[in-house]
Amino acid sequence: MSRQSVTVRVPAKVNVQLAVGGPRPDGFHGLANVFLAVGLYDEVTATAAGELRITCSGPDAGQVPLDRSNLAARAALALAERHGRGADVHLHIDKDIPVAGGMAGGSADAAGALVACDALWGTETPRDELMEICAELGSDVPFSLVGGAALGTGRGERLAPIEVGGTFHWVFAAADGGLSTPAVYREFDRLCEAAGRTVPEPEASPVLLDALRAGDPKALADAVSNDLQPAALSLFPSLADTLRAGSEAGALAALVSGSGPTTAYLAASAESAREIADALRASGTCRTVRTTTAPAPGAHPTDAPDRSSAP
Ligand code: C5P
Repeated sequence: MSRQSVTVRVPAKVNVQLAVGGPRPDGFHGLANVFLAVGLYDEVTATAAGELRITCSGPDAGQVPLDRSNLAARAALALAERHGRGADVHLHIDKDIPVAGGMAGGSADAAGALVACDALWGTETPRDELMEICAELGSDVPFSLVGGAALGTGRGERLAPIEVGGTFHWVFAAADGGLSTPAVYREFDRLCEAAGRTVPEPEASPVLLDALRAGDPKALADAVSNDLQPAALSLFPSLADTLRAGSEAGALAALVSGSGPTTAYLAASAESAREIADALRASGTCRTVRTTTAPAPGAHPTDAPDRSSAP
């Protein structure tokens, strides 16, 4: 059954472990990437239109490209091509995830556009085919579809779901400016080369997976790691001040989210998260601060139950 308009909600992510290997012949890096979906969402609304059109609202809307370079537009075009039809759709993105922040905002919009267009067009694409299109669009897009928590291997697109035994409290501080993901990976390579370091095969940490399963924030805090953090700090040195402010305010762990420059703070409780957020705002070292919880469901129409547990 096709509809007039479909709205899909898609979460941001933080990487509680981002283990990065050496560069592969295709230019990507092998990863052991533990994704956790967090409760900051973009909403993508697909409405029938004469031709493909993108609009965007929200505090960072001015930074979002509205042409066919937008990952949501590419998702609509890829789905339309698969079904031999036109991508005659208006996609409106209501953006709450920081842009170019290392929280997979663009990937969320791509997954949202896919699910929204599939429902609008009544194309009923099987889940495994949607996952294939996601993987073609970007390394983080399959996880945006699935949500919850998952281990991503390969370039991050091959997912195995991870059980999470409780709710974790997080604070996110968006920085004044963005970082380009390829530039951060290039800096990672440069730093490894400069240090003469042989990069080991990336592997998921069993201790970290246990902490997620147990829903234990202290154990998780002791186990989080991000191999891209030195590279992000090298390109954006003032992030160190933000991380320090969050740690001093009682964060159990303070880390760069993915390729940055958003920074993430794991809190012991909702109350502690509020205190950390207040301290970060008062520090003057970041642009905006948000508190939220994890895990969050994957891409789902706002008028339907989520499918976060069905990878
Ligand atoms: O897959 P995605 O388009 O999100 O990747 C953006 C860029 O990040 C890639 O072009 C590459 O430079 C870098 N990247 C990488 N290894 C990965 C994922 C991304 O080098 N596993």
